[in-house]
Amino acid sequence: ALSARASSSGTSPSAGSDLGALTFDPDAYTELTTTVTDTAGTEHSVTYHFWKAITYVAKPVDEKYQSLNVSVPVKVDGTAVDASDAPILFANSVGGYMPSSVADATGIGGGSGGPMGGGGAPSGSAAPTAAPSPSASNATGNTNPTGGALSTNQLLALAAGYVVVEPGARGRTLKNSAGEYYGVAPAAIVDLKAAVRYVRANKGRVPGNTDRIVSAGTSAGGALSSLLGASGDSPIYASYLKEIGAADASDAIFATGAWCPITDLEHADGSYEWNWGTNATSAGTVVDQTVSKELRAQFAEYQATLKLKGLRGFGTLTARNYDEYLVKQYLEPSATTYLAALSDSARATYLAANTFITWKNGKASFSWADFLTHVGARKKNVPSFDAFDLSTGENNEFGAGTTIARHFTAYGQKNDTTGLTNKRLDSDIPELLRLMNPMYHLVDKPNSGRSKHWWIRLGTKDSDTSLTVSANLAAAAAGLGDDVNHLYYWDQGHGANTDPGDFIQWIAKVTG
Ligand code: DHB
Repeated sequence: ALSARASSSGTSPSAGSDLGALTFDPDAYTELTTTVTDTAGTEHSVTYHFWKAITYVAKPVDEKYQSLNVSVPVKVDGTAVDASDAPILFANSVGGYMPSSVADATGIGGGSGGPMGGGGAPSGSAAPTAAPSPSASNATGNTNPTGGALSTNQLLALAAGYVVVEPGARGRTLKNSAGEYYGVAPAAIVDLKAAVRYVRANKGRVPGNTDRIVSAGTSAGGALSSLLGASGDSPIYASYLKEIGAADASDAIFATGAWCPITDLEHADGSYEWNWGTNATSAGTVVDQTVSKELRAQFAEYQATLKLKGLRGFGTLTARNYDEYLVKQYLEPSATTYLAALSDSARATYLAANTFITWKNGKASFSWADFLTHVGARKKNVPSFDAFDLSTGENNEFGAGTTIARHFTAYGQKNDTTGLTNKRLDSDIPELLRLMNPMYHLVDKPNSGRSKHWWIRLGTKDSDTSLTVSANLAAAAAGLGDDVNHLYYWDQGHGANTDPGDFIQWIAKVTG
């Protein structure tokens, strides 16, 4: 029988290529100019080429989401820039595991001001406060008030001479006319991998160094970014990628940036109770302590199975020593950095208002219990992720077919309050969890195709998930010998990105 390729004689789109519809057109751009204010407050004029809403799979389910934008700087402050071998910032804008489209993006910064940190977060999430705002104007006057603006990371990346790729991806709420949810797990990660494959398959056509792809994302987007980093070239996605006609290329990425990753979902309920279990909710109520304690016990069991070593010589991380680990490794250094940067009078004011902190010899110290009191209200109810009434976004993320939401933990299924007769998880759930959890690729089955460089950030007041989640991610990657740069932003909430300039410099360092 003839192969598909043999039967399409003479239709090769460009020399040496069989990419067909997935061939990037180097000429199909518009030229835009924007102003980027760097972290020192200096303005830069950046002229760049902008390719919009390119479908990245041959058999799209929904092109509105399965498409990407490319921005390539050509001139910075009047000087020509050659980005043909530059690092590629692959910045997703997924928030809340929701659908993410770049179809309406303008490529122009500023505007409606999407959350920072290489991507979006769902509305209602805390806005970052300390990062300098990019101010941008569009010399062409071609603005689109509906948004789609480049984030701080993306603008700074362009000004640094990097290529920026913005992939869209399907998300959990998408439903077709038959009532089927087609953006639930694992759609988003499959789409992001397909987008990476598109870029790599077009090596030499898409400007930039396809061996230096650096992923970025925040919250659910941070979870997907870390999953993209951990799961590079894993064979378990092959059938899904084939189904949507992904390019035949590697989907491994070089480095991973993840801000407040909402990941390790099937263990997040226990981790959350271990961390925030005794904190009252914003309504002033303490959650059901019986459920909270059962979940805390699950965290202890889980953490023991991980057998992760803490960074910098800290021993094996357990539910008993994790408070000490967080305080010493992350929280006190975070407070110290914050306080050291204040003027003497501002520091004195802060310390007077926060007497739980001891400031001595230029270092902050405090107890875990006092830190928890300082953070105050927990954001979520119990269980936070696999709710007994199937009411969370994560329950929807694990929906299937015409079922909008499902349980993804045995505990959630057992305690279901929606009238389910099945007391066992659906049989496809374990595989979906492997497809969605970076820890699977770092701990259960260490993946050699993973990213070896990790930039992980989290606000100390972020109670969207447990503070252990990103620390475990960092410890798992470091345990495999990877280069891990992880710190917590003092007093910052969900979605914070207060050191975007450092991230841009880190990219230069690790890709150089
Ligand atoms: C996000 C926030 C959450 O609290 C969550 O459970 C999932 C995603 C987000 O901001 O993307």
